[in-house]
Amino acid sequence: MKVGIDLIHFATADYYLGLDTFAAEKQIDVEKYTIGIGQEKMSIAPPDEDVVSLAAKAAAPILEQISREEISAILFATETGVDQSKSAGAFLHGLLGLSNRCRVVEFKHACYAGAAALQMATTMVRANPNENILVIAADIAKYDIDTSGEATQGCGAVAMLVTENPRIIAIEPGSGYYTNDVMDFWRPNHRTTALVDGKYSTKVYLNSLKHAWEHFTEQTKRNFNDIDYFCYHIPFTKMAEKAHKTLAKKVGVKLTQADFEKQTLPSQAYNRIIGNSYSASLFVGFISLLDNVRDNIEGKRVSFFSYGSGCVAEFFTGIMQTGYQSVLMTQQQQDNISQRKPLSYAAYLDFYHQADVNPDNIIYQKTNKGPYRLVGIEDYKRYYEKV
Ligand code: COA
Repeated sequence: MKVGIDLIHFATADYYLGLDTFAAEKQIDVEKYTIGIGQEKMSIAPPDEDVVSLAAKAAAPILEQISREEISAILFATETGVDQSKSAGAFLHGLLGLSNRCRVVEFKHACYAGAAALQMATTMVRANPNENILVIAADIAKYDIDTSGEATQGCGAVAMLVTENPRIIAIEPGSGYYTNDVMDFWRPNHRTTALVDGKYSTKVYLNSLKHAWEHFTEQTKRNFNDIDYFCYHIPFTKMAEKAHKTLAKKVGVKLTQADFEKQTLPSQAYNRIIGNSYSASLFVGFISLLDNVRDNIEGKRVSFFSYGSGCVAEFFTGIMQTGYQSVLMTQQQQDNISQRKPLSYAAYLDFYHQADVNPDNIIYQKTNKGPYRLVGIEDYKRYYEKV
């Protein structure tokens, strides 16, 4: 039985901050960002955009292709939750007008939760092939001003419809995983910005990759050369480069520059101009591969490495399905990216501080261009609208 991603679409905010603008403001050589960490732009969410409106924007084109009655569950992965109790998926369920015969739950473990939700969805469909599960991975990456993390912000949401006989990729059973209780990145409940030991987190990421890989090979007996394209969690694109080179070295494969570019570059293109989207970033990378790879990759094996600080990691694979290109939503995604408006550093700071206050009562100015937005908060209750 084949189970996997039948449709996939991502959305990001309508604004970005260029790392050139950022570097000029901070009086730092721009190549530290464009070359050193491999980033050019960060998508910036205005105050009336949160993970719910981003998720709705990502999911809407999928819901034009399947009846709302047929969605049997929403598994919503985020570490930018909007409420400590009510799941972001419940707000999304209302905003999208889904059937009451649908379950909703929020998944959290830093950037890993999207992979957890996808794996849970495939398990649910294997148990009951009638399920059509909407998996959402959505986050807004936010660090304190003037910290090393500030240059690695961004935001995005990926919506995936997980079904039997998927049209895009069948996720293969068997995966390798690794958990270790470490403090490389965390966000105490009262904070809207994450705390991070950045250098340590890159070390833990690479160590987790090696462990998850070992478990993966034990579980599946597959090896490096069985995989055609590699997608990694991408907090900044240089991290994916470090990851792929580390993995190749571990398995004793001598990578040529051509191998490296073929296996990983198409999956980095979008992340380079969106920035970190935490739980979504691995899947933004997968969409980037689909939209940017020159060849038709039907029948090819794609790997996914998910890393969530704290830490949990998982390595798994899927097989691209015949005819997948006919259901991609490349144009919409590229339009969303290219139509974003640049922000000055001062305008970015204004958005940053407005979105920082968690007010009990507020009506937001309309800066999010839609199709869904956060209208405001009244007595701590959030209100959304379709624009
Ligand atoms: N030209 C080219 N490269 C340059 C450069 C320049 N002018 N200046 C610096 N660099 C390179 C550095 O050599 C370094 O490369 P390396 O990682 O291969 O050694 C890279 O740019 C980053 O410079 P560094 O001084 O280490 O940056 P930083 O102290 O600002 O920290 C992060 C970078 C990624 C650790 C920081 O942005 C961060 O904490 N990010 C958030 C956490 C995160 O994303 N963790 C990842 C795991 S989930």
